[in-house]
Amino acid sequence: MNNQENFYITTAIDYANGSPHLGHAYEKVLTDVIARHRRLTGRNVHFLTGLDEHGQKVQQGAEKENIQPQARCDLVAAEFLTLCRDLNISNSDYIRTTQTRHKEYVCKLLQKLFNDDLIYKSEYTGYYSKRAEQFLQEKDQIEGEWPEIYGEVEEITEESYFFRLAQYQEWLIEFLEAHDSFIFPRFRKNQVLEFLKEPLNDLCISRPIERLSWGIPLPFDQKFVTYVWFDALLNYISAVADQDKWPADYHVIGKDILVPPHAVYWPIILKACNKELPKHLLVHGFWNISGKKMSKSAGTVVNPLDLVQKFGTDSFRYFVMREMRVGQDSDFSQDQFFIRYTSELANDLGNLVSRFLNMTSRYADQIIPASTVKEEAEVELIQNWQKLENEVFQQFEDFQIQEGLDQIFEFIRSLNRYIETRAPWKLAKSEETADKYRLQTCLASIAEGLRLCALLLNPVMPKISSEITKSIGAPDNQNWIQDAHWGSSLEGSNVGEKMILFPRLEL
Ligand code: MSP
Repeated sequence: MNNQENFYITTAIDYANGSPHLGHAYEKVLTDVIARHRRLTGRNVHFLTGLDEHGQKVQQGAEKENIQPQARCDLVAAEFLTLCRDLNISNSDYIRTTQTRHKEYVCKLLQKLFNDDLIYKSEYTGYYSKRAEQFLQEKDQIEGEWPEIYGEVEEITEESYFFRLAQYQEWLIEFLEAHDSFIFPRFRKNQVLEFLKEPLNDLCISRPIERLSWGIPLPFDQKFVTYVWFDALLNYISAVADQDKWPADYHVIGKDILVPPHAVYWPIILKACNKELPKHLLVHGFWNISGKKMSKSAGTVVNPLDLVQKFGTDSFRYFVMREMRVGQDSDFSQDQFFIRYTSELANDLGNLVSRFLNMTSRYADQIIPASTVKEEAEVELIQNWQKLENEVFQQFEDFQIQEGLDQIFEFIRSLNRYIETRAPWKLAKSEETADKYRLQTCLASIAEGLRLCALLLNPVMPKISSEITKSIGAPDNQNWIQDAHWGSSLEGSNVGEKMILFPRLEL
């Protein structure tokens, strides 16, 4: 592999109209795990996340609170930045769509499309709710009626600007058919092709400024502002406009914003501007609560920072990666979190580390001894490692993080079994020289096993990984390609003091 390979990955930018929840946190952790994994395999990673600040809801929210929209965005931005910090997200940049760099880029692009006659003025007709100050669609009706919250709904016609989306429909279908790996997981492609069976309409990209002032004014007509997706999608490219990074390798997004924004509007906007398309869209599923969408009114919104506070950052990261298969939906439950925390993190991993530190302190003066024996127990342990070595590598490359973690923990359990088989406490009592060497080899083998586990767990649990690495005296900055093989020697390294990685908790 070329070690200098660039890798540009993005998350969706979160709406600045509410506080962060589990879905936002998951997407950031997933993207961060991929970014960290790619760094560990020698890629030069650029990782972008950010905030989507314009639009009706932000404007209305600010009016309600009697503050300026920008002030409200600043408050929300502070919350999301705290989320990134507390989740240990290693993003290289944070874009906010109210930043000058973004607004200038959007204007430049809109002007170009307008000059090329790809944006034109026409009339827009739709259902409008004065009370909610927004256009509605028929699907917003419940049993043929507009819900009470919308008040009186009328059909109105107004002038608007449109982007010539429809003329690219055939091109997009051909592109998707020819590029099977454009969307991960692959089954989602059919959903897009299904959508494209119906003729596309041109995309309305503006709102009159008297109705929506919190947006970017069109450079060719200041009486209008851009509307939602045209502004938001461009963040991926405006953020790297002065760098040699485009196209992105992966846009990580939730399934709700694949069709039409990311799989239809975005490729067509780029095509119309003669820009390269992103290489892939990585579409994850939704976290539900008892099979239902998280909902404010039902009080089921999960605050990720509560969980981080209770269980710790790395435990949170581990849980969401271990529990959800990338691309599928998952149900969140605190009980399940607690079970995984106790059995996998505290019992399997935490115990292994503390047993190792105890034994090395008791039987080897806190210095890792030499490995000199290779009997059945060691052969079996090394074979267990070698079976998973290449597989886990591929699983992380292919976003099968859940499966990768499962295998790593299988190996952690095999290290625990190895300790039981070798029973160092018995070997320590033996007078035989052979047993002395067995004991030394046992400690050295566990140290080597822990070094490998720490390395493989690094993308998911960076802090725990570095604590383990430090406590066994292994070098930092290891690389997944060069160093994830059995057989390094930590002989002579000083091990750290006893520590508890995952304190016992009550549910
Ligand atoms: N602002 C738009 C995205 C613009 S991207 C150019 C948006 N924002 S959002 O705040 O509503 O969602 C941000 C991300 O969180 C999206 O990828 C969305 O799919 C994801 N999630 C929102 N709720 C979620 C769950 N319950 N579960 C998992 N992810 C979810 O959409």
